[in-house]
Amino acid sequence: MFDIATTDFTAGKIDPRIYTDPDVYQLELENVFGRSWLFLGHDSQLPKRGSFVQTYMGEDPVLVVRQRDGSVKAFLNQCRHRGMRICRSDQGTSRGFTCTYHGWAYDLEGNLVNVPLEEEAYRNKLDKSQWGATKVPRIENYKGLIFGNWDPDAPDLAETLGDFTYYLDGTIDRFEGGIELLGGAMRWVIDCNWKFAAEQFASDFYHVQIAHASAGVAIVEDPALQAQMWVPRPGMQVTVNGHGGGSPFNPPMPGNPFVGEAGQPYNDWYVANSDGVESRVGQGRRDMANGHFTIFPNFSYLGDMHTMRVWHPRGPGQIEVWAWSYVAKDASPEAKASARRSSAYTFSPAGVFETDDGENWTEVQQVLRGWKARSNTLNAQMALGDERPGDSQFPGRTDDLFSEMAARGFYQQWKLLMEGKSWRDILADRSVTADGPQAPTASAAAPARVFEGSNPR
Ligand code: FES
Ligand code: FE
Repeated sequence: MFDIATTDFTAGKIDPRIYTDPDVYQLELENVFGRSWLFLGHDSQLPKRGSFVQTYMGEDPVLVVRQRDGSVKAFLNQCRHRGMRICRSDQGTSRGFTCTYHGWAYDLEGNLVNVPLEEEAYRNKLDKSQWGATKVPRIENYKGLIFGNWDPDAPDLAETLGDFTYYLDGTIDRFEGGIELLGGAMRWVIDCNWKFAAEQFASDFYHVQIAHASAGVAIVEDPALQAQMWVPRPGMQVTVNGHGGGSPFNPPMPGNPFVGEAGQPYNDWYVANSDGVESRVGQGRRDMANGHFTIFPNFSYLGDMHTMRVWHPRGPGQIEVWAWSYVAKDASPEAKASARRSSAYTFSPAGVFETDDGENWTEVQQVLRGWKARSNTLNAQMALGDERPGDSQFPGRTDDLFSEMAARGFYQQWKLLMEGKSWRDILADRSVTADGPQAPTASAAAPARVFEGSNPR
């Protein structure tokens, strides 16, 4: 493995072996996915006692379960007998889980409660209390979003999110009843490293006008809007503790063509409710809805395309995408159905925008099969040393929309974790912490720069 200490993300230089090296990958399962807060699910997926969903923390399968007391717990979905999955269903409701191999049975917390032939085969000598499923020691809930962390020394979720909660709140609190995830996940495989996807959603609006040009032209009929779409525009980007996001700040748009025909009923509802949104989260965060965001390391979401997704790593050159439609809980059933069809049309395995992104990521991964290509240095120097923080009401380290500051923040956080730095040192590191030049306090009602027009991401 090459020496990660030689990488210099703060100088905007990327060694492409971070996307291909199998040893790097194994280390990041341990040091990045084993130490960070990872998205496990949303309260709306666990409506009852005994409700459960299966997901992954990195490559580790975990079961996330609503307990009898209403709390949520999670444990490794691995039977302690020979390692079979304890539960093979994606989601459901249960009073416990029985391994399909030899029948060891676990309760909702993952405790081993029953073993077939305990008396005859084990001579009553198996101490079941020692052989429960491995529990995820840290579970925290942020406004319905459930995160887990294997690292007992990690700071709590709120501290790790830092000022990024200001932006996350802009998505969750924009509607009075909050948000919910609809139904099951859309899942598909892309042959690329997980960091391409996570970094792009954290930092990259720059690709939109090229990568999505044909899709945009195909679905936007108004020539005036077409002309406006692809010009450089104002907006902002932010980086906080490796999390990142950006938005061109467009107000809710009647008839927004980017959500497709199918998305119009939800868009109508969305526009009709936008005054209330402004009073709750301020005009700035109302208009940030069409932004792109990543919570480090691999949980991303888009605003008015209403998609949330996890980029599950599957080796250095593959990811499994799990994507959900999220909607305002208070929207009508018809509006919610429209949102689901809209996100299938835009950001799904066959989505008009999604396929543009995946095509580029897989091609880059293919190019990196070449030894010469892998020994190159890639450039992430956009706006390096020339950040323009702009409106001081926006917390975190901010810049104009077109910048790779958030990409550098993402990779720097990755590097510090990979090097095994302590969490105290990581959060104190000036290159990724929230303390940008302006370092304001998050405020609930930030006024915003408002710009006309609309853009997909
Ligand atoms: Fe689960 Fe044997 S592997 S009971
Ligand atoms: Fe894109």
